[in-house]
Amino acid sequence: MDIKLFDEAFEALPDVIRNSKPACTLMLGSGWSSVVEGMKVLAEVPYTDIPHFGGATVIGHTGRLVLCELPASGTVLAFMGRRHWYEGASWEAVVMPVEISRRLGVPALLITNAAGGIRRNLVAGDIVIIEDHIRMSPLSPLVGPHNPVFGPRFPDQTNVYSPELIEKLRLAGDEEGVELTKGVYVYSAGPVYETPAEIRAYEILGADLVGMSTVPEAMFASACGLKVAGLSFVSNMAAGISEINLSGEDVIECARRNTGKMAAIVRNFLGRL
Ligand code: HPA
Repeated sequence: MDIKLFDEAFEALPDVIRNSKPACTLMLGSGWSSVVEGMKVLAEVPYTDIPHFGGATVIGHTGRLVLCELPASGTVLAFMGRRHWYEGASWEAVVMPVEISRRLGVPALLITNAAGGIRRNLVAGDIVIIEDHIRMSPLSPLVGPHNPVFGPRFPDQTNVYSPELIEKLRLAGDEEGVELTKGVYVYSAGPVYETPAEIRAYEILGADLVGMSTVPEAMFASACGLKVAGLSFVSNMAAGISEINLSGEDVIECARRNTGKMAAIVRNFLGRL
């Protein structure tokens, strides 16, 4: 990690963000950006104005950072869209939302994504609380010379996803009348979708969901001391489980039909922090 790049990015943020103390950061993945719609925006920055971050290039990723007022009190920082390793983005760009949050002292990070469902009783449209992950790739933003600013050399991975935040998500689902199950997310680096044989293998390994994001950011954030929570929106059943061939457009279309419940859960969760 080149800390100078983070310094330059942080310097470029407007004062209102640099002086803020958000209660939570949201990393809004494919189809999730609408959860901040209707919130009062205090500041807004396109990713392209943040050095070394770069514009979001993926369908469904808006590419804007917004600081919003929370209905009860306080603020929330929302990154609408993320950078992925498979785009050729640097690790600095992938974890930029985490590093900006760390510098602001944000205590909690909610990572959201769209994922393929592996567990047979899932259906497209379900929302699953990530309780753990399997990293099916050696890729990691923590590889390289150790910098103690980002945590220990060998970060513990027992509770990457905070049990306390998982409970708050569960309560949010209960109150909103949205059934949320818990699941294990397997990280497949992409950009290809998986083969049916890979999905059968992941199923045997104990994975419930598959996707191409979240794990690098979650590992980095938990090493840095942030409390992490994750929500997956099941946009499709994984390859071979459903007969349908997979496309990015279908992922977004499925999310669009379910924005109401996605927003309700995130807002309810924010009210519990
Ligand atoms: N595989 C990987 N990533 C995904 C999928 C999938 O089936 N659906 C949405 N993101």
